[in-house]
Amino acid sequence: MGNHSKPFDSYIFPRINKKVRNRSVLAAMTNKQSHSDGVLSDREIKWLTRRAKDGFGIITTAATHVSKYGQGWEGEFGIFDDLFVDKLKVLTKNIHQYDCLIFAQLFHGGMRAPEKLTGKTPISASRIPCEQSSTGFTSSANVKEIKQLINDFQSAALRSVEAGFDGIELHGAHGYLISQFLGEKTNLRDDNWGGDISGRSKFLVTIISEIKKVVPESFIVGVRMSPEIKELGIYLNDSLKLAKILSKTGIDFIHLSCWDCFKTSSEHLSDKRTLTEWFTKSIPNLPTIISTGGIWSTKDADNVMQQGADLIGVGRAAIPYPDWGANLNYEKYDPPKMPFSAEQLLKAGLSDIFIDYMRNWKGFIKDE
Ligand SMILES: Cc1cc2nc3c(=O)[nH]c(=O)nc-3n(C[C@H](O)[C@H](O)[C@H](O)COP(=O)(O)O)c2cc1C
Repeated sequence: MGNHSKPFDSYIFPRINKKVRNRSVLAAMTNKQSHSDGVLSDREIKWLTRRAKDGFGIITTAATHVSKYGQGWEGEFGIFDDLFVDKLKVLTKNIHQYDCLIFAQLFHGGMRAPEKLTGKTPISASRIPCEQSSTGFTSSANVKEIKQLINDFQSAALRSVEAGFDGIELHGAHGYLISQFLGEKTNLRDDNWGGDISGRSKFLVTIISEIKKVVPESFIVGVRMSPEIKELGIYLNDSLKLAKILSKTGIDFIHLSCWDCFKTSSEHLSDKRTLTEWFTKSIPNLPTIISTGGIWSTKDADNVMQQGADLIGVGRAAIPYPDWGANLNYEKYDPPKMPFSAEQLLKAGLSDIFIDYMRNWKGFIKDE
């Protein structure tokens, strides 16, 4: 847990004694810049390498699908086959030129893996309404399929080791397959993969234990989670229990995806604790905590560390400012917020594809 030092100080992952040069983490950002067959593109390598070169401590890749049928978006690079490893090696080699760590964010879209992209009915924890499916519903994973999915995560983790990643982040946030197992409204199972949070987290916990059986001791394994997603039935009390369960699995970090690190819980309106504080101030023996959402300035980063985070994640601020991590050196760093011009983003190492994608994020790109 946080020791309230400055965000530019280095940090050591305790279990493996692995040093990070500063506290900044590039959070996973889907950018659609890769090839339609799932091979990582030079455009995507360029975008990530620039952020390592310019000073981030840790780079997280975009979400990458562990199963062919788990793809969420066009232009997403895959990790479901050995044929992807060579290009991933180029990425990790590039990043490691700069004293920077790199994690692969492993995921499966579940009900958010559109049938029109994968050709297959989206699979989930249960049969639930699904706009991305031609039948209007997901298919409920049977036990054999659950085991296969766990196996897919394990194989993807092994490929990440082979490709030279320092670690992986299991994407248990934002409503994709792992969080569909976690959610009370999306996991309606009455076998031992469902029920209370202990049953609903069995999918994630088994993925972790299967991965830890095969990766080297020095390989970093973490989980990204959402503290609250009402639509899926993910509630704060269960998320706190989940963090306690995860703390006992030997993972190295929990990455809290808060969207706004300065917000309090939407379920406990009179409580003044921020989402991060709900975890850091009440759960002993947490692994390293990364917290992300709405951070732009050094003051914001300091504030989130005071909340008990060890590492500071940013998404949007890193898009126009590749050197955001290095700027945490400056106490008064507070770069202008959106909108940004397409020209500025081109200069910051984005391709036209990524810039076009960012037009979907309201107010991000300046009208020309
Ligand atoms: C373009 C874009 C793509 C994103 N893709 C992912 C993703 O692949 N995986 C993920 O966990 N979060 C994803 N996110 C969420 C970010 O990691 C981050 O949590 C969010 O943007 C809030 O942080 P920020 O306020 O610093 O941007 C994405 C965000 C953006 C803006």
